Amino acid sequence: MAQHKIAKISDIPEGQGKTFTVEGQEVAVFNKGGQFFAIDNTCIHKGGSLGEGSLEDETVTCPLHGWQYNITDGKCLANPEAKLNTFTVTVENDEVCLEI
Ligand code: FES
Repeated sequence: MAQHKIAKISDIPEGQGKTFTVEGQEVAVFNKGGQFFAIDNTCIHKGGSLGEGSLEDETVTCPLHGWQYNITDGKCLANPEAKLNTFTVTVENDEVCLEI
């Protein structure tokens, strides 16, 4: 595991997500009220990019067909047995860092 500086805080506006490729993995990072969360970017339905989904509270909605995931634990709301990986996000000064 290593920490990777991926963005400035201002690069990920509140209530939005963004996709980053770190160590070959696509990760969606979200800013929920100033707190940052990260999950796998790839929707398990048909590969939609969750970093481009819409965020409401702790729920991101896939832009392709609307599957929803909790960004804090990666769980799929439609299929509780399906879960995306989550990643630790820290903020140092104004830098957002991802642990992978
Ligand atoms: S690819 Fe995400 S809902 Fe279909």
